[in-house]
Amino acid sequence: MKTQSSEYYIKEIQRLKKEKNAIILAHFYQTGDIQDIADFVGDSLALSQKAASNSADIILFAGVKFMAETAKILAPKKKVLLPDVNAGCSLADSCKSEDFEKFIDNNPGRTVVSYINTNAEIKALSDIICTSSNAVQIVESLPADEKIIFAPDRNLGNFVLNKTGRDIVIWNGTCHVHEEFSLEAILKLKKDYPDAKIIVHPECELPVRMVADFIGSTSALLQYTKKDKGEKYIVATEVGIIHQMKKENPGKTYFPAPPRDSTCGCSECNFMKLITIEKIYNSLVNEKPEIILDNDLLYKAQKPIARMMDISEKLGL
Ligand code: 13P
Ligand code: SF4
Repeated sequence: MKTQSSEYYIKEIQRLKKEKNAIILAHFYQTGDIQDIADFVGDSLALSQKAASNSADIILFAGVKFMAETAKILAPKKKVLLPDVNAGCSLADSCKSEDFEKFIDNNPGRTVVSYINTNAEIKALSDIICTSSNAVQIVESLPADEKIIFAPDRNLGNFVLNKTGRDIVIWNGTCHVHEEFSLEAILKLKKDYPDAKIIVHPECELPVRMVADFIGSTSALLQYTKKDKGEKYIVATEVGIIHQMKKENPGKTYFPAPPRDSTCGCSECNFMKLITIEKIYNSLVNEKPEIILDNDLLYKAQKPIARMMDISEKLGL
């Protein structure tokens, strides 16, 4: 197929959205052009809430597979499109259902709290789901003596354990983007710009979290840069969020936290970046690739997500 200009794709996407009553939900790690054409841009919790409540017939997910799957689970009657089926997540893929079943069997009597960054099979094995913006509150909503399994991100799990002091056994998974930030390079930047605040996603390793002025989900980091009186920020999460930070606070300065290997471009999630304007256009034209889930799996995975959504609503999150 002949490649067109991005202006052409953007115009056509707007037309197709109207024609097909479709909406585009985009994560903050998408490229700026995609964030700008989206109907809604947010973190994993806000995107799930939007997927569960909208009047569109088609949801096109500009994000990764676990996000599109969650949208399908929350809105089973809608057509959910993911413009590139290879947009996976190394963290979600680090937790395979056969292994996770064994892990649960080896740690009996524990409530299974899984991060939303998991495939649907893992959600179906879980008691309750959380995101980075509600993980602490979800764990705190459980009785104080309840023993917990947390999967799959060991850094977020460790963050939750430290915050809540609960008895938590943690799956040993990590995100390749958040693991790669260099403490040394962050501290060097801080030395060069002493008034810059270090803001960190909880998927980062403990040494990076320890030097943070603020730790939070992508939305929480964005909110922080809006409300905070500071002017400069060292941002330790995927660089896509900086597009939104610049849009909302144009006068401030943002430094992407450097990865250990300065030549690798590791502060970009290669899965998120598989989605392009052209693929979004093709996906809307062909209404493919579509997320299809086995009914039994879908309903099993729905329960723990619904539990998270209820608690989040009650807490006003
Ligand atoms: P949040 O946007 O929910 O903080 O998630 C970050 C992430 O890693 C998504 O893949
Ligand atoms: Fe997965 Fe990490 Fe990419 Fe998020 S940034 S989608 S956790 S690989």
